[in-house]
Amino acid sequence: MENKKPTLFDVYPNLEGKVPWISILTGIPSNVDRLTELESYLKLNDGEIYIKRDDKDHKIYGGNKLRKFEFIFGEALKKKKKGIITLGGIGTNHGTACAIVAKELDLKCELFLSLQPISWHVQRSLLLFHYFGAKLHFTKMFELGVLKSLLFRMFHPKYYLMSIGGSPIFGIGTPLGSIGFINAIFELKNQIDEGILPEPDIIFVAAGSTGTSAGLTAGCKLLGLKTKVYPVNVSRDIVVNPKNLIKIANKSIKYLRKRDKSIPDVQVNEGDFEMIKGYLGSNYGVKTVKGQNAVDLVYELEGKKLGFKLETTYTGKAMAAMFDFFEKEENKSKKVLFWNTYNSNDLDKYLREIEFDYEKLPKKFHKYYEQQAFQCWRLANCPEEVRIECPAYLNHEYRFWKVAECKLPEEKKIEVQEKVRKVIELEDA
Ligand SMILES: Cc1ncc(COP(=O)(O)O)c(C=O)c1O
Repeated sequence: MENKKPTLFDVYPNLEGKVPWISILTGIPSNVDRLTELESYLKLNDGEIYIKRDDKDHKIYGGNKLRKFEFIFGEALKKKKKGIITLGGIGTNHGTACAIVAKELDLKCELFLSLQPISWHVQRSLLLFHYFGAKLHFTKMFELGVLKSLLFRMFHPKYYLMSIGGSPIFGIGTPLGSIGFINAIFELKNQIDEGILPEPDIIFVAAGSTGTSAGLTAGCKLLGLKTKVYPVNVSRDIVVNPKNLIKIANKSIKYLRKRDKSIPDVQVNEGDFEMIKGYLGSNYGVKTVKGQNAVDLVYELEGKKLGFKLETTYTGKAMAAMFDFFEKEENKSKKVLFWNTYNSNDLDKYLREIEFDYEKLPKKFHKYYEQQAFQCWRLANCPEEVRIECPAYLNHEYRFWKVAECKLPEEKKIEVQEKVRKVIELEDA
């Protein structure tokens, strides 16, 4: 395994050994690409748009979680734990990342999952948790899942309990995940110094449990950058709010200062970031028209060429917020960095390997496949010899007609497309 020490430890060597850490990332420093086609499309004056490519920061599953895990799993291993317990919705990306890293480190993984709107993404995620060896627990209500996970932890002291999203909730829990993003800003500072990008005026980032945006804000403050972080709320207000971000950011700084007094004595406050609302839709995980349009446009203009794709729960909504920002004339000269927090490595290959065999999952999950089919090949009862050759089969894109020309007879094809369209709802938000 590549052993790339955090930049934070290069700048503050006293932290090494005092802050738990283990090498997990394989693609850092993550690239910064300039999105020139998007700049033209948005008709910027001398504004510039860059993207931080955390989507490829790990060989199996890239994204923001992995940066958190270097520190959180570091603590779990330091405490000689043999497994990780964590929580999330049944489609949680955090759960996928946790299962993959736990397997890599030879740790057990227990996921406490609660209900969220069923979608193709959810059905895929459950199969991936299972593929990577996680043990699945389920409660309809999130609060009950929290209780069950605490009980499980009580009876299994050798397991490390990682909070939802790897972030402190209401100030409770370790700030180590956010320290991963303080470190990310130190990495970015090197890239600024090397001339890869100018010091950004603004960083746009999706906020779910707020650990990522809190760490980025704390990092900018510690380094005295002029950059203002714009966390885009894609989750519940009770978690994504300025108070919570400030709490997490300052807890992270305090944690570091306790181990090295030479770290600047600064505090994050309301003026250091600008929380953006209005892109969530009616609930966490719902697909919005604006979010989907942003995913499609960025893929056409940039993603196809650079090898990344946004998604509709987090990064698409954050990008939609960035588009609206650039609509205003006074913003057209800003230098903006979009922090890409979602994986862009191929996971479809694992699903192909297990041939969508959901019956291998615990029985209580089967109904989430049997009650609702989203996939064209299931809705059409597509013949084995056709589906196996078809790129749409098990593809992560849920609008399957976008992926491949359907080989079924014309009439059948139209009927199936209508059915798929019916089960896909886009909210006008
Ligand atoms: C793709 C993606 N982006 C952003 C986030 C939000 O990160 P945070 O929970 O640290 O706010 C998540 C969290 O699950 C995510 O999966």
